[in-house]
Amino acid sequence: MSKHVAGDIFEEIEALKKEKNAILLAHYYQEDDIQDIADVIGDSLALAQAAQKVDKDVIVFAGVHFMAETAKILNPERTVVVPDLEAGCSLADSCPAEDFRAFKAKHPDHVVVSYINCSAEVKAESDWICTSSNARRVIDAIPADTPIIFAPDQNLGRYLIRETGREMKLWEGVCIVHDIFSEQRILQLKEEHPEAEIIAHPECQEAILRHAAFVGSTTGLIKRVVDSPAKTFIVATEPGVIHQMEQQAPGKTFLAAPPEDETCSCNKCPFMRLNTLEKIRDCLQSLEPRLEMPAGLRERAKRPLERMLSLG
Ligand code: 13P
Ligand code: SF4
Repeated sequence: MSKHVAGDIFEEIEALKKEKNAILLAHYYQEDDIQDIADVIGDSLALAQAAQKVDKDVIVFAGVHFMAETAKILNPERTVVVPDLEAGCSLADSCPAEDFRAFKAKHPDHVVVSYINCSAEVKAESDWICTSSNARRVIDAIPADTPIIFAPDQNLGRYLIRETGREMKLWEGVCIVHDIFSEQRILQLKEEHPEAEIIAHPECQEAILRHAAFVGSTTGLIKRVVDSPAKTFIVATEPGVIHQMEQQAPGKTFLAAPPEDETCSCNKCPFMRLNTLEKIRDCLQSLEPRLEMPAGLRERAKRPLERMLSLG
């Protein structure tokens, strides 16, 4: 989009935000221009915490469905709108609530920890919610002799088993973006840039994580590139995050980790990337599509979420 056109739509969005008394929350995987106009930008934990503190009438959530659902669970009395209702999540979809209930029934003595990337129905079946930035803290809060079910991301689950030494029953879901990075192509890139530090999101496979000098949430990865003495980074997560890295660590070089398939841009999340400035303007104008859910479900999903948020 040209600077002029972006400028016009930025002004329209700003005017609509004032008129509707709205706040725009955006995840780091959004397009650069959406990140630039957001009032709050963050990882899943920061966005849930921001949603908890909102004092506006309307929340526009530029992220994916489970994130907007979380905002609604925490703000039942406010209007939550999304730019595109089709912006789902492969990981959340890999764990249908019905199947998850059957899985849980097989392990009735287990405490259920669910990664925030899941539906409200699965949250409602959980004892704890966690994100990639507080998963370790959540696991550590559960008594050592208590068996745990971890859902729905098996890569994050395996990483946590290695980190905490705890045995956990894993739901075998994956994120289509983080699961497709190529170990061979990453190592080839490292050979071309031996000075580069490999950093990775814990949703990546173990084959990728074992080469990483640092593993963390999107916020953790941004902080790492600021703090590390390295000047070049191979970034194994959705490349939307590189926009903030370039702003917070100017002068450093960021190389997006390549997927297996050289011909696709499948390291970009197809759900996150459904959102556009135009759709943000339109949903602010019409206050549609809205996030709605039955009060009973909202209440049940809120308990494990608030338990997580109470950890700080
Ligand atoms: P975080 O931003 O919490 O690290 O999560 C990444 C992600 O996959 C969001 O969909
Ligand atoms: Fe879901 Fe993966 Fe996209 Fe995150 S990056 S929203 S986990 S599909």
